[in-house]
Amino acid sequence: MSKKVIIDTDPGVDDAMAILLALKSPEIELVGLTTIYGNVYTDLATQNALRLVELTGRPDIPVAHGAESPLLAPLGPAADFVHGWDGLGNINLPPPQGRAVDRPAAQFIVETVMAYPGEITLVPIGPLTNLALALALEPRIADHVAEVVVMGGAATVNGNVTPAAEANIINDPHAADMVFTAAWPVTMVGLDVTMQIIMTDDYMLALKTSGSPMAEFIYTISRFYRDFHYDTHGLAGMHTHDPSAIAYVLDPTLFTTVRGPLRVVTEGIAAGQTLLDRRQNWRQPNAWTGQPMVNVCLGADAERLLALYRERITA
Ligand code: RIB
Ligand code: CA
Repeated sequence: MSKKVIIDTDPGVDDAMAILLALKSPEIELVGLTTIYGNVYTDLATQNALRLVELTGRPDIPVAHGAESPLLAPLGPAADFVHGWDGLGNINLPPPQGRAVDRPAAQFIVETVMAYPGEITLVPIGPLTNLALALALEPRIADHVAEVVVMGGAATVNGNVTPAAEANIINDPHAADMVFTAAWPVTMVGLDVTMQIIMTDDYMLALKTSGSPMAEFIYTISRFYRDFHYDTHGLAGMHTHDPSAIAYVLDPTLFTTVRGPLRVVTEGIAAGQTLLDRRQNWRQPNAWTGQPMVNVCLGADAERLLALYRERITA
């Protein structure tokens, strides 16, 4: 049986790559996209989500417009230097035909989770504001989701915005702390693994020449994003962030994980840091004591994951 999935997203080149992987995978029934600021502001995130479902022939998939700013932190600038001014590599797509549904993302998440108790997997691949708002609106969703798979954070490596913080978490650290301390099953697919999985230039060229229009589209939108990686990391390729969260949903055996309580630093120079307590039976009580265990990916079979991505996208 396929898994019902809601992707919460700020598309975003790698968000688009993740959404297309979900759409091409029979194990996943994509029941909605909810949008959030991050790579782009929320208005453009919604437009891009609508563009993606229309371009892939799935305009039936509902898109719900999400929060336009973080819970408490100031709204940061859009990451146009990473994803382009349009969020999709400056390719000038026409406006979408359709519109977002008539209720906000948090309400859409609550209604969908409560309509299918135990069946919905939430996959946030942007800042976590919509999930925190959904929890505040209806705390019982924590008991009724199948799983939450977060792309974000860094448990054992530096961040990609500051030495402490990864982009999705620093954009709304208060929301992220709510999500990681709620009593629902959470897996963190963070920079520990996503920066180990590289889509090289050769890999991308093979996608482009595969004969699959979807693979060629991915090649086209990812040129600007690839150049950002080259300029910033000296990498002739790209990190595989958001598609890795979908890959986890498809096949968790692609990853090795550890479990422990995880808190998010919300203020100061380390704001956005995801701090996992890996100590066993620590005596003195602290802010991690009694918090739910989070499943944190620390290792990945990059070769197998990239083969899965190529197989699905070119099929
Ligand atoms: O740090 C990587 C994350 O930040 C990805 O979700 C990417 O799309 C950006 O939002
Ligand atoms: Ca993203």
